[in-house]
Amino acid sequence: MAKSIAIDGPAGAGKSTIAKLVAKELGYIYVDTGAMYRAMALFLIRNRIDRDDTGAIEAACEDADISIAYENGTQVVLLMGENVNDLLRTEEVGNMASASSVNARVRSKLVALQQKLAQNENVVMDGRDIGTVVLPDSRCKIYLTASVDVRAKRRYDELTAKGSAADLDKIKADIAERDERDMNRANSPLRQAEDAVLIDCSEMSIEEVKNEILRLAKEKL
Ligand code: DC
Repeated sequence: MAKSIAIDGPAGAGKSTIAKLVAKELGYIYVDTGAMYRAMALFLIRNRIDRDDTGAIEAACEDADISIAYENGTQVVLLMGENVNDLLRTEEVGNMASASSVNARVRSKLVALQQKLAQNENVVMDGRDIGTVVLPDSRCKIYLTASVDVRAKRRYDELTAKGSAADLDKIKADIAERDERDMNRANSPLRQAEDAVLIDCSEMSIEEVKNEILRLAKEKL
């Protein structure tokens, strides 16, 4: 059976950075499930569907063709056959993804895609419900978190480094709002699986977190 490392945690904890490094080190495929929810959100935005219009969102699940390909080891998200990777990391798409991912139909569509990817390949998969719903039998589950202040500051530094304007208080408020929604939704809320190892990386370097997860992977897989 294929091996997996499941990494869950709140927005901005550094899951994707770490998951990519761990996957590279182990020769596993990195699966970014947030990008799939973001692609669905982009579809909703493009079709001017309101985040509160449940009926229209559910109908959109039938119409949105989302698939995953790998190019030189990098995950490419295809929406209606178009590579949309570069369009997914905006605050607008992130906020729509957080809102639309509460929908059970959206979730079941994307969970099926994620489970299929993990069936035949060794994966490092990150998201919100990987250890609890997508890969409940994974033997290596991590819950990666950091304080709201640290996560907001990292996001702020990332944006300003790219030359984008950023407002730290606004980012902090958005992160807190996203946490609230991700943790309190009825369908697959973000929570630590009982058998997941908690890593609070507020005071840790990327290298330290990577090494800790590699150590756990060695021990558990
Ligand atoms: O990790 P991210 O910021 O790219 O995720 C965007 C949104 O998608 C996030 O607010 C919640 C949702 N999401 C989810 O519900 N389940 C996942 N497995 C991954 C992301």
